[in-house]
Amino acid sequence: MRRAGLVISLVALIGLVAAAPPPEFGRRGMVAADHRLASEAGALILEAGGNAADAAIAAALASGVVQPAGSGLGGGGFAVLVTPDGEQAVLDFREVAPAAATQSMFVDATAEDASRIGGLAVGVPGEPSGLVALHERWGSLPLRTIVRPAIQLAQGFAVGAHLASGLSLLGEVGPGLSLALFGQAAVPSRGERVRRIRLGRTLSAFSRSRGRDLTHGSIAADIADAVQDSGGVLTVADLSAYTPVEREPVVGTYRGWSVITMPPPSSGGVVLLQALSVLEGFELPSLGHGSADLFHLYAETFQHAFADRARYMGDPDRIDVPVDELLSVDRVSEIRRQIIPGRTFDRDHYGTAIDIGRDAGTLHISVLDGEGMAVALTTTINTGFGSQVVAPRSGVLMNNQMDDFVARPGVPNAYGLVGSAANAVAPGARPLSSMSPTVLISPDGARRIVVGASGGPFIITSTLQVIVNIIDFGFDPAEAVSAPRMHHQWAPEKLFIDAGVSPDTERALRGRGHEIYRMPFFSSVQVVVSEDGAGVTGASDPRKGGWPAGW
Ligand code: GLY
Repeated sequence: MRRAGLVISLVALIGLVAAAPPPEFGRRGMVAADHRLASEAGALILEAGGNAADAAIAAALASGVVQPAGSGLGGGGFAVLVTPDGEQAVLDFREVAPAAATQSMFVDATAEDASRIGGLAVGVPGEPSGLVALHERWGSLPLRTIVRPAIQLAQGFAVGAHLASGLSLLGEVGPGLSLALFGQAAVPSRGERVRRIRLGRTLSAFSRSRGRDLTHGSIAADIADAVQDSGGVLTVADLSAYTPVEREPVVGTYRGWSVITMPPPSSGGVVLLQALSVLEGFELPSLGHGSADLFHLYAETFQHAFADRARYMGDPDRIDVPVDELLSVDRVSEIRRQIIPGRTFDRDHYGTAIDIGRDAGTLHISVLDGEGMAVALTTTINTGFGSQVVAPRSGVLMNNQMDDFVARPGVPNAYGLVGSAANAVAPGARPLSSMSPTVLISPDGARRIVVGASGGPFIITSTLQVIVNIIDFGFDPAEAVSAPRMHHQWAPEKLFIDAGVSPDTERALRGRGHEIYRMPFFSSVQVVVSEDGAGVTGASDPRKGGWPAGW
């Protein structure tokens, strides 16, 4: 049975590897975003002499124009950087709860979806100050040069497949949102040319004022008014007070590679490193890529890691997140001991939260430049089209990041995640994230992998599988992001598989007690790999239709 499964899985894999296009190649650098126009905006900046930080900013701003479902100046994010001289750094520009937020604001709210749609869902955006801070600290070209490609895109671009599909799912909200974003009530279809005139002006003001107009000036007033008119509590004072934070990365190793990743308030880096440490105790290629054995091992590992996430993680400026303990040899060994090859268990076996999707609202950009600077930047407005609140004069679409807190105790958020008081709403607090921008350095120091994803909690498990595909299975970047993936986040008790997973693997997983859910849409991983002094290769995930751009 297992042999037959392996054969079928291998056939599926060979088919898939044959179907994956070759990875893009760059002699001196590469930008992999989840939209070709955003990758090209970043590559243009590399070509103009910019470094990886400049290119990541350009790609993020361009993404905010052409992928408004997923990011923009109304959101926030994280960047993990490794500089040519070996500095390892993290910039946290995650949204925070407004000063008037309260722990019971969503319990008291009349609308059940108040943490997802409308003004109350809006966290104080960190993107404007964050991108400026990234530029001030690590950028090299003038900001106006870096913003220019996004301003040009705002004058007109063809709607991509991912945006068209997101817009088509909006139902009766579609025309109003189209009017606010594109100045036309007719919901545009794929390939149709649209313009974002107001956003273009906002980007010019962002460039001229180095973000200040969005935090202290007339655009800040436009944003605060729009949020308050939609029932929210965000004020200009909240926008002015927002400060990005430079943090120490979480650093570990996997099979000799250094892993430099995101600390809390993301759960991403810690869950990723804990799971990688558990998996390091197993010889993965012998299980077979895409096999039930491998997916079961992943599922058991992830359930422990996500149970720890729910129990212990939140804003490190408010609670003590026991990062060292979660990554300790003792905790990793304990998880390994509890993994049984033949079966899965009930939820409580993995842990209990004390008190108790479809991806669209996030995107990831991986960049490597010719000097070896690596930037992994993930940015988000949370779920697709965020809170659906658009500031009318400036065209900025606002996030719904408040839903990443435990808005109502015991009630899962938009991604089905449960949590504890560790992630409660509090004024000025940062909601727990899953974003996992990560840079890996090879044992000899010569190669780098820059990786990350969009997709809520799928971010962590998908990023991990792409890392394993490259390091353990020797896949090139295109094969690594194209290969079928699985996901498990402990609660709900479901093992998610994507479209390419073989029916045989699915059957064998059911036989071990897993409830299987086949997801029509998974996550989107972008990866760039340096090739030992011989240029860089990279890939954007075909699931979202992205394409990298080399230089
Ligand atoms: N809003 C998605 C995340 O931060 O995980």
